[in-house]
Amino acid sequence: MTSYVFYQGEIVDEKEVSISIRCKAFNYGLGCFEGIRAYYDEETGQLYTFRMKEHYERLLESCKILYMNIPYTADELCEATLELLRKNNFKTSTYIRPVVYKGSENLFPTLYDEDNRLLIYCQPLGKASEKESFKVMVSSWRRISDNMIPARTKPIGGYLNSALASLEALQNGYDEAILLTDSGYVCEGPGENIFIYKNDKLITPPPSDNILEGITRRTVMEIAKNELGLEVVERSIARTELYSAKEIFFSGTAMEVTPVIEIDKRKVGDGREGEVCKKIKEQFLGLTMGKNPKYASYCKGVY
Ligand SMILES: Cc1ncc(COP(=O)(O)O)c(C=O)c1O
Repeated sequence: MTSYVFYQGEIVDEKEVSISIRCKAFNYGLGCFEGIRAYYDEETGQLYTFRMKEHYERLLESCKILYMNIPYTADELCEATLELLRKNNFKTSTYIRPVVYKGSENLFPTLYDEDNRLLIYCQPLGKASEKESFKVMVSSWRRISDNMIPARTKPIGGYLNSALASLEALQNGYDEAILLTDSGYVCEGPGENIFIYKNDKLITPPPSDNILEGITRRTVMEIAKNELGLEVVERSIARTELYSAKEIFFSGTAMEVTPVIEIDKRKVGDGREGEVCKKIKEQFLGLTMGKNPKYASYCKGVY
């Protein structure tokens, strides 16, 4: 079956797109990307993109920071994506991956070349992990800081840091890693934000602790405040607070809301998914298909 992608302003067959071995994105990681989900509702046959405009606004911010401006507004990118999803005729939950990158082929890792390219591809994606809950370790790798490679830009090259942390975790028999900042505070997972629940408060690290300001994180904070009436606090979290937390969970587009049940061989709470995480996860999954009128504007029907 033909897979269509959006490349340089047009929807084309994926087979028509190729990248040079000299391309700067390939040689130096000069690019940034987004990850967006679309949820398929079997009952109505509708596919809903989730908070797509906010993802594209974040992509355009990344482009500005990295000197990779592309000639589209967030609304235009949303329209192009809807058209692409329709063209592919997806009837299943789908992951959308826009990538902006430096296509130029001269030898040096410079950002000033104007050869900025945009590629959007999609693929079916249900659950990202077979596991319902994670056993994790604190990584020996530290999270890259904002003054090294800005995490808020979702930089292609920066994901080597995520990959090393995940590799270490998997090689040591864990499901996922938690990275600390250079100052030793809790930062995030390789591709997820983190929350702890403690003393009746939901706590998550602030943007100044080098996190990616996740769109799922934003949704979780809204659900916790508005639907569960919880106090949500953004503050630095010390490593040992992870060991004494009643609950820990991750949030992210791919992993959605996933509980952490063990950290560095210590049980989190009673070693099972906590009640707060469970409620937030239920609410989150409930609002991804436009079924909760309060949050219906987050979901855009494709067909
Ligand atoms: C490093 C990192 N942190 C957090 C997240 C979660 O962000 P979001 O909820 O916008 O997917 C991601 C995923 O994109 C990520 O790559």
